[in-house]
Amino acid sequence: MTVTTQAKPIPTAPGLPLLGNIREIQQKEILKFAEDLRAAYGDLVQFRAGPFPLVFVCHPEHLYHIFVKNVGNYVKGPRYDLLRLLMGNGLVTSEGDLWWQQRRLIQPTFTPKAVLHFHDMMVQVTQKMIERWQPCVGQTIYVDQEMMRLTMAVIGEAMFSIDLNEQAIAVGQAFGVAFQYIGEATGKAFVPPLYVPTPGNVRFKRALETINNFIDERIAYGRAHPTDQNILTMLLQARDEETNAGMDEKQLRDEVITLFFAGFETTARALTWAFYLLSQHPDKREKLQAEVDAVLGKRQPTVEDLYRLPYTRMVADETLRIYPPTGFVARQAKQDDQLGDYHLPAGSILMISPHVTHRLPELWPEPERFEPERFAPGKLTDLHKCAYMPFVTGPRVCIGNSFALLEIVIALAMVSQVYQLDMAPRQIKEAFVGTTRPTEEIHMTLHGR
Ligand code: HEM
Repeated sequence: MTVTTQAKPIPTAPGLPLLGNIREIQQKEILKFAEDLRAAYGDLVQFRAGPFPLVFVCHPEHLYHIFVKNVGNYVKGPRYDLLRLLMGNGLVTSEGDLWWQQRRLIQPTFTPKAVLHFHDMMVQVTQKMIERWQPCVGQTIYVDQEMMRLTMAVIGEAMFSIDLNEQAIAVGQAFGVAFQYIGEATGKAFVPPLYVPTPGNVRFKRALETINNFIDERIAYGRAHPTDQNILTMLLQARDEETNAGMDEKQLRDEVITLFFAGFETTARALTWAFYLLSQHPDKREKLQAEVDAVLGKRQPTVEDLYRLPYTRMVADETLRIYPPTGFVARQAKQDDQLGDYHLPAGSILMISPHVTHRLPELWPEPERFEPERFAPGKLTDLHKCAYMPFVTGPRVCIGNSFALLEIVIALAMVSQVYQLDMAPRQIKEAFVGTTRPTEEIHMTLHGR
């Protein structure tokens, strides 16, 4: 990419020496900080989280340039180092040839057609949750915990063909601790190295141990049961097209942990936000209920039904617009580049926010409003292809996007057939701690329909 001589330097938001904008980020919370940054400075601005300069990017044309047009110039870079402590060099964090080789191996399991193979399992797991809820009618349920349990049960079955049951709670908590640590540390100016026994480091290391033991146990089980049909046995049997080599032990572990983790946390957040939004918009909820009643009645959804539940899918899409679970991703420019009229020096670290892009009023009128109808077929044909990117786009698009949407649509439809989750009108704030999560537990009253 040539940088033209007229390219301008990216404007900088003023900050304190050393601390940069970190106080403001902590006071406002990073999502709000990013929204305000965009409102004050426009599409491209540099700020500092501590001593480190970051370039904030949210314009769809710039995103297209980074994720598609000049994608070869961008790596994930050092902002993923903390995540590497958990996921090693799995698909989310690896770069270059290793990433491409692994993506080729894993991709076939996650195509839109291939994930339909998981449909019946997802229906059964959701059914179990619905039955487990039966005695709780009229009572309060913790929707965020329930959704975490559901999505972990789904990925447990998909990856290992096991019902995680009680183990899900211990492993879920360990992932929660690990992710909280990573999320918080990412926003700090200085993070003590792991060998320093701060309470946070000790907790994090203990969580890693629980996770690693769990993953090692599962891999050993998978090796002992090679005829099981699941993602783990697929990974164990996968061979590189050219060299016929399988994955070494470390790579296998990294991919298993990556898929397991990436597979439940984000989807659980999306479902929690969806039920919250529906509870706050009874008219939209009625439309969804009317659709599932008309299409499914009392029976379980089949694969064919998925195409007959457009409104349920629109609710999923709109939820992912308002609360994209991955509120931020990062990239680093390998070489000098030009974004629009601006010069982006080599080595620049970019903070990209689907959260902010999804709320740009020139792209999304009344962006805060929950309006699933925006996604009605044919409605978004003129929209820029990077105006909506809960899964990002380009070669590094989320590999699990079809899997996640299938799971979300099934859960929304099946729960809405039987129950209504109610919450008195109120505004729950969001915060970004690795994923975009509610700042408080989501308690709702479970009513039968
Ligand atoms: C609503 C649910 C989900 C959302 C919003 C989501 C979002 C994302 C995003 C934004 C990325 C890009 C991250 C980056 O560029 O740094 C990503 C990557 C990834 N996701 Fe998801 N994800 C979801 C569900 C899943 C599921 C269910 C799985 C697996 C079963 C999964 C596996 C992955 C993997 C392996 C990558 C890395 C892909 C690569 O770089 O080749 N995700 N996801």
